[in-house]
Amino acid sequence: MAEVVTTKLEVRRAVEAARAAGKSIGFVPTMGALHAGHQTLLQRAAENGFVVLSIFVNPTQFGPSEDFLSYPRNLEADRSLAEQAGAHLIFAPAAEEVYAETHSTWVEEEAMTEGLCGARRPGHFRGVATVCLKFFNIVRPDRAYFGLKDYQQFKVVQRTVRDLDLQLEVIGVATHREADGLAMSSRNAYLSAEARQWALAIPRALQQAREIVERGERSPRTVTDLIRAELVAEGKLKVEYIEIVDAETLELVVPLVGQVLIAVAVYCGDARLIDNVLVECRPEA
Ligand code: PAF
Repeated sequence: MAEVVTTKLEVRRAVEAARAAGKSIGFVPTMGALHAGHQTLLQRAAENGFVVLSIFVNPTQFGPSEDFLSYPRNLEADRSLAEQAGAHLIFAPAAEEVYAETHSTWVEEEAMTEGLCGARRPGHFRGVATVCLKFFNIVRPDRAYFGLKDYQQFKVVQRTVRDLDLQLEVIGVATHREADGLAMSSRNAYLSAEARQWALAIPRALQQAREIVERGERSPRTVTDLIRAELVAEGKLKVEYIEIVDAETLELVVPLVGQVLIAVAVYCGDARLIDNVLVECRPEA
């Protein structure tokens, strides 16, 4: 039975006991509303002897007009899914446990947050990096696991850990997709049955983009035009961005070379959905 704890002290004690028993510590930070994508992270984290999952809807990573209040919350359902997927400890703190009333210290990565979601969600990655660093200091994991659907988040956290000399490995885990290609996301819960069908244009467009790049297309403009055309074809989706960046630096690449990330953010009804594919531009293609 996975224990649910709400204080930093309880986490530290449980982790210390696991370490004393010779176990390595895996950590999966989440905001709850767990789905099969989180299960995949937990299954990967099972390479450690002790797996901690956090559930915390972090207020500091939401903008004033974003969905902090309506973000889906269901601790009981999350607990049973986390348990089935092998979590040993669930850390579900209240905001007051995480942030002192006078909290005034922030972690801000300055290079990789310039484009993609960073450009459209001011302060978002500052909130993410800060809460991740806090949780890393509380849990002290050997390894932390992040889904590659949020690729920029993964790279920002990885860079922050490197730059601030934290001793843990940040591991990216492939995006879990539904059978029809839609990337798993807690925000899919906002989609009506109809909107869910419209959203399928996202994986379709990314797949087409991957194919033309693999066949040798090297103009980012041609690729983004193709994606845009597919996304807007039904007149239901609103494109926030389509960007192609270097997979390591997250800088725009013109012409396409090396490993690139093709990433989109799209409004489908009220839901803002993001997705991406990684593509290798082979020189001989
Ligand atoms: O991806 C998420 O669920 C959140 O951004 C994270 C990493 C748990 C930080 O709040």
